Amino acid sequence: MARKLLMLQHSLIAFSFLALFLAAVPLASAATEVEDEREFTYMPDGENGPNRWGEIHPDWHSCNSGKLQSPIDMLDERVDVVSHLGRLNRSYKAANATLVNRGHDMMMRWEGGAGSIRVNGTEYTLEQCHWHTPSEHTINGKRYAMEAHMVHESADGKIVVVGILYTIGRPDSFLQSIQHHLEDVAGTKEDETTVGVVDPRDIKIGSRKYYRYIGSLTIPPCTENVTWSIVKKVRTVSREQLRLLRVAVHDDSNSNARPLQPKFGRKVNLFRPEEGKDD
Ligand SMILES: *[C@@H]1O[C@H](CO)[C@@H](O)[C@H](O)[C@H]1NC(C)=O
Ligand SMILES: *[C@@H]1O[C@H](CO)[C@@H](O)[C@H](O)[C@H]1NC(C)=O
Ligand SMILES: *[C@@H]1O[C@H](CO)[C@@H](O)[C@H](O)[C@H]1NC(C)=O
Ligand SMILES: *[C@@H]1O[C@H](CO)[C@@H](O)[C@H](O)[C@H]1NC(C)=O
Repeated sequence: MARKLLMLQHSLIAFSFLALFLAAVPLASAATEVEDEREFTYMPDGENGPNRWGEIHPDWHSCNSGKLQSPIDMLDERVDVVSHLGRLNRSYKAANATLVNRGHDMMMRWEGGAGSIRVNGTEYTLEQCHWHTPSEHTINGKRYAMEAHMVHESADGKIVVVGILYTIGRPDSFLQSIQHHLEDVAGTKEDETTVGVVDPRDIKIGSRKYYRYIGSLTIPPCTENVTWSIVKKVRTVSREQLRLLRVAVHDDSNSNARPLQPKFGRKVNLFRPEEGKDD
C-alpha cells in the first residue's frame, strides 16, 4: 500500500513537472502576435469581437484586464513635448521577406530580421510590418485611413513598435513596390508568398517628430509594456492600395482597427528635435 502510494506520488510529481513545462511553453511565445486569424474578429458586437478577446484564451486576459492597452488617442494639448528621447535611431538593412495573409491583416516578415532600432540603449530587431485599415491610433480624435506597424523585438523579448499614419492621397511607394505580391495573397489561393529581398528603408517616415507612450500589442495576446513611437507626419496611400489591403480581412467587418483603449493616466510624450536641428 505504502509503496503504491509512493509510486502514485512519484507519478504525480512527474505529471506536475510536465504540466509546468507545458504551461511554460505558451508563456515563452506570449510576445508573438497570434497568426491564426479566425480565432478573433473585429466585429464590434461579435462573439469573438474586440470586447471579448480577453475571454477567448487564458493568456489573452490582458486584452480585457490590462491597464496599458493600445491603441489610444494622442491629444496634442495633453502631450509633453520633449527632446531627450532622441531621434528614432534606425539601422535597417535589406533582407529576404515573405508576405503573409493572416486573415485579419497582411504581414511582411523578414527572415532573420532586417536590421534594428536602438531605443534608450537597447537594440530591437525589425521582424515584421503589417497594416491596419483604418488607423488604430488617432490624433486629436481624428482617425486616418491606414496605419503601418513596424514590429521590433529585443533579445530578451521586449517589443518596440513604430506606427506610421496615412491619409487618402498619392500612392505609397512601398506598397506600390510590393503590389503584385499583395495581389498574389489577397485572393484565397495562397496564404504566403516569397517576396525576395525587401529593404525596410523603403518604408518612408519623413519626419523626426513622434509620439511616445507605453502600451500593448493591438491584437491578441495584447502583450503589454510595448514601447510605441507614432510618427507625427501623416503620409498618403491611394484608395486602390487600401482596397487591396482590405481584401485580407475575411470577417466581413471591413476593418481591422481595434477600438481606442482607456489611458488610465498614461503620459504621452511628443519628441521634437532641439531648435536648429529640426526637420
Ligand atoms: C544610434 O545607435 C548607434 C548604435 O547602434 C550609436 O552608436 C549611436 O550613437 C546612436 N545615435 C543616436 C543619435 O542615438
Ligand atoms: C535571399 O535569398 C536568396 C535565396 O535563398 C539568397 O541567395 C540571398 O543571398 C538572400 N539575400 C539576402 C539579402 O539575405
Ligand atoms: C531608459 O532606461 C533607463 C535605465 O534602463 C531608465 O531608468 C529610463 O527610465 C529609461 N528612459 C526612458 C525614456 O524609457
Ligand atoms: C512592465 O514594466 C514594468 C516596469 O518595468 C514592470 O514592473 C511590469 O512587471 C511589466 N509588465 C509586464 C506585463 O511585463
